[in-house]
Amino acid sequence: MVAAAGGAASQPGWSSRTAFVLAAVGAAVGLGNVWRFPTLAGENGGGAFVLFYIGCVVLIGLPLILSEILIGRAGRSDAVDSVRNVARESGVSEKWAIFGVFEVVAAFMILGFYSVVAGWVLYYAGVFGADFFGALFSGAPFAGALIGEAPEAIQGRMGDLFGNIPLLIAMHTVFMGITFWVIARGVHDGIEKAALYLMPAFFVLLLVITIYGAFVGEFSQAVAFLFTPDFSKLTAPVMNTALGQALFSMSLGSAALMTYGAYVSKETRLAPTAGMIALADTGVAIIAGLMIFPIVFAVGLDPAAGPTLVFQSLPVAFQQMPAGSLVGLLFFILIFFAALTSSISLLEGPTSWGINARGWSRLKSATVFSIGTYLLGIICLLSLNVWGDVRLLGFWSIFAESNIFDVVDGFTGKVLLPVSALLTAIFVGWRADKKLVENETGLEGGMFALWRFLVCWLAPVGVALILVFGLFPGLL
Ligand code: PFF
Repeated sequence: MVAAAGGAASQPGWSSRTAFVLAAVGAAVGLGNVWRFPTLAGENGGGAFVLFYIGCVVLIGLPLILSEILIGRAGRSDAVDSVRNVARESGVSEKWAIFGVFEVVAAFMILGFYSVVAGWVLYYAGVFGADFFGALFSGAPFAGALIGEAPEAIQGRMGDLFGNIPLLIAMHTVFMGITFWVIARGVHDGIEKAALYLMPAFFVLLLVITIYGAFVGEFSQAVAFLFTPDFSKLTAPVMNTALGQALFSMSLGSAALMTYGAYVSKETRLAPTAGMIALADTGVAIIAGLMIFPIVFAVGLDPAAGPTLVFQSLPVAFQQMPAGSLVGLLFFILIFFAALTSSISLLEGPTSWGINARGWSRLKSATVFSIGTYLLGIICLLSLNVWGDVRLLGFWSIFAESNIFDVVDGFTGKVLLPVSALLTAIFVGWRADKKLVENETGLEGGMFALWRFLVCWLAPVGVALILVFGLFPGLL
């Protein structure tokens, strides 16, 4: 099925506005909120990082969410072709489609390591599931988790997992398999259904666990850590990391929002939806911080532990908490749901491109990109193990210490996403037809002027500065 000019007739659509909102919020809320945000806030000193992050969300992320969705809806095709269609309608060079290409590439790369981390989640869900059902049969389901296991041994489970290549591969395979299955079923029966069931379940679980944490956890230290800014920690690379995280978390710069935007009806008002995505996403990130750091401090762990923070610290805490194995199981199910609704949005971008640009069937396109990202994931997971010493970008100071996993993660977040965000802002703000843009946003008067100011000036200048000084801190 090759899209005709504009492709409108061949595009599938959401069955309702609710379905679109749930799918878009599902794309945004994911490992980025529950795993990457606490990890980066911890590594980069807490308060100042969090404040700068929120600034990026409001001033750069929010206006760009609207920009990406509107390109999708106006272009009505995959990420690359949608930009091309809008460029053509605006009478500017179709070469702008290049940032659509960057976005599809970014989605492909992100999904590679994303699925590996989601595999860790599955492993821990399995650990706590087995523990809970074991306890259930022995008649004590509400005791702590992993009774009798030394805290060091619980923390050591992460290292054990990293040492076990077949297990890492098995978990990664299961997660990619489920993602593939959802995408192969299509927009209605796959993406929409997944979001319709998983997102409400996610929010219920989040609420339950946060309330539980409020009763059994120690909040004050976490609140101080997350909200007391020490601006001396806010270096240019830290700002770059915060910006990259804001983009990553809101699924910007990686084809998802443009692709989902193409399935939105002309009647849907886009601006309130963009606001809901930004609000839900940032709210969940902050709540996740408030869920995780009280526990991190309570068990005396280093908040700057890095990517293993969530996986090593929380299981130790669950051991000491009432109904720990059940809460642990629910917690990892929660992360799994969040990860799945995001991974399907990551796969949909490239898949939609394969369908439109290459003329492939959905099944073929989903298969090709699933296998591609799956293989990239295997390379990433081997760098947790036998390839741990490989330094792909060792010559570049900000990546000097990074293994392959960290390079794929860091390069997308620090380079690819900001570059796409910059080009999106310039394209929508300066090159796309102003009337077309105004109609798509549905904004009027002062609101449109404010949004336009952010897209034309603040977003591009802010992103450009952060990008240049973040990548080349020596320039400062
Ligand atoms: N926003 C997702 C998260 O926070 O986990 C990750 C993501 C999904 C990034 C979709 C990019 C994307 F296109």
